[in-house]
Amino acid sequence: MNAQLTGRRALVTGASSGLGAAIATALAAEGAEVVVHGRDPARTESVAGAIRAAGGGAVAAVGDLATDAGADAVAGAALAAGPIDILVNNAGSYPHRSWRDATADDWREAYEVNVISGVRMIQRVVPGMRERGWGRVIQIGGGLALQPGAELPHYSATLAARHNLAVSLARELKGTGVTSNTVSPGAILVDGVRRFITGLAPGRGWGETWPEIERHAIEELAPNDVGRMGRPEEIAAAVLYLSGPLAGYVTGTTLRVDGGTVRGLH
Ligand SMILES: NC(=O)c1ccc[n+]([C@@H]2O[C@H](COP(=O)([O-])OP(=O)(O)OC[C@H]3O[C@@H](n4cnc5c(N)ncnc54)[C@H](OP(=O)(O)O)[C@@H]3O)[C@@H](O)[C@H]2O)c1
Repeated sequence: MNAQLTGRRALVTGASSGLGAAIATALAAEGAEVVVHGRDPARTESVAGAIRAAGGGAVAAVGDLATDAGADAVAGAALAAGPIDILVNNAGSYPHRSWRDATADDWREAYEVNVISGVRMIQRVVPGMRERGWGRVIQIGGGLALQPGAELPHYSATLAARHNLAVSLARELKGTGVTSNTVSPGAILVDGVRRFITGLAPGRGWGETWPEIERHAIEELAPNDVGRMGRPEEIAAAVLYLSGPLAGYVTGTTLRVDGGTVRGLH
């Protein structure tokens, strides 16, 4: 795909690992200048360095988006070298909790890290897009927003908030040239997910090799029509599409990339 991103500048939050690193790498490969954000300076700089080594344009911006000061630092660093045309709100975490053990503080923290973090970046970056009459705002949501289970209730609720605010933002940006959408992944194989599933495997009898473990895990935890977990590059491909001019008539929508995990007319 030629996503037609040459000359655009993108900020990808939570790009020091996982989906964000894949998204930043893919945007840079399509010609965008990328601001790679993370909290961990070494991991963040490592992703930015790998993009530069491959011939792309990337700088690092470090900060905790669960705080106003961190968001100010990240926005300041990102905007120092030029405007941001594409904002991908991807930063987030999903510590394993259930209804039985998630405290009020866990719920509050999930909301700070997964929802208000993105709102902070919207507040700092979208006014410039609006002034220039072009922009793309993309939330990384998730299937648990639409089809939650009993586990991870706090996390699932924050995903639903991301989906919801993306639609509200699209309405707010009516006629401005700035679109707002959500990419909703299913279960995607990032390092943290692989570690979690590998840890469950012996107790559940899922086998010894990764292909066996993945097949059993997906059948039991997130069954879908493709029969495997998604890969970070498959989420990045959806972000590429929504980031470019080919998606100029797409706003307020959710693009599910989940192998058919989520059922129904969502
Ligand atoms: N993997 C999946 O199956 C899946 C499915 C649906 C949705 N998602 C969503 O995709 C996003 C990325 O997840 P991932 O699976 O790629 O996980 P990951 O590898 O753990 O990446 C999470 C990223 O978010 C950053 N981050 C976490 N808390 C932050 C904070 N307070 N301030 C700033 N940055 C923070 C991390 O930065 P540092 O490491 O530098 O601290 C890291 O770059 C998350 O929002 C998650 O909800 C993932």
